[in-house]
Amino acid sequence: MDVEPARPVLVLTGAGISAESGLPSFRGADGLWEGWRLEEVATPEAFARQPETVQRFYNERRRSLLAASVAPNPAHLALARLADRWPGGVVLVTQNIDDLHERGGSASVVHMHGELLKVRCLGCQAVTLWRKDVAAVSACDACGQAGRLRPHVVWFGEMPLALDVIEAAIEACGLFIAIGTSGNVYPAAGFVDAVRRVGHAHTIEVNLDASAVTSAFDEVRRGPASVRVPELVDELLAGLP
Ligand code: APR
Repeated sequence: MDVEPARPVLVLTGAGISAESGLPSFRGADGLWEGWRLEEVATPEAFARQPETVQRFYNERRRSLLAASVAPNPAHLALARLADRWPGGVVLVTQNIDDLHERGGSASVVHMHGELLKVRCLGCQAVTLWRKDVAAVSACDACGQAGRLRPHVVWFGEMPLALDVIEAAIEACGLFIAIGTSGNVYPAAGFVDAVRRVGHAHTIEVNLDASAVTSAFDEVRRGPASVRVPELVDELLAGLP
């Protein structure tokens, strides 16, 4: 693998990297996420129609994320190690709304689909930290208005966050690594093609199974992220001059 150390590494992670930390991924065989159909809870229309149901879904997920058994795994830790040592730096973009990269030591994480432990006030637009359940009467920590909080997550039909940062990384990177993402949701699924169009980066997919965009990658590493990612990071760091 020929990678210029002076160029940043762009990493895209998906639900697969958190699966071994005890958080289920989205696209199981039955198309349900723990009994919920995604389009019934992860759209602005669903929130307008049945806000309590949507809040309950995210309350359950927030509780699961904060369970004592959930912790970063060796893949999260390895990516933090790469960011510490890679000369050109690492741009770590995640589709995950969990905070396992941060708990694994990554200082700067681009959460393109938002964050489960934050809420946004529909009144004052403030984004604030939130670790409890959200109830119909919950008040915004910034402005005090009750009943205006929504999860700070990007729903289907909404614009992902920080696309300008991601576009700059696509232009600049010398290596693109996609980890544990099924390649079904755009724009993230299209990053590999965008990187290839720029033309100076090697591209690697790390996944248990084939994704919808596997054929677009230069290299595919099959297996659990907790094993394949530390291996890959060791290899990259060993190759540094
Ligand atoms: N190691 C590596 N890959 C794994 C592992 C593992 N231990 N476990 C599962 N995978 C892979 C699966 O093979 C699958 O390709 O991770 C991928 C998970 O895919 P999805 O559940 O579709 O998750 P993701 O691609 O992150 O979903 C994208 O869709 O629902 C929306 O906004 C949500 O951010 C999410 C987006």
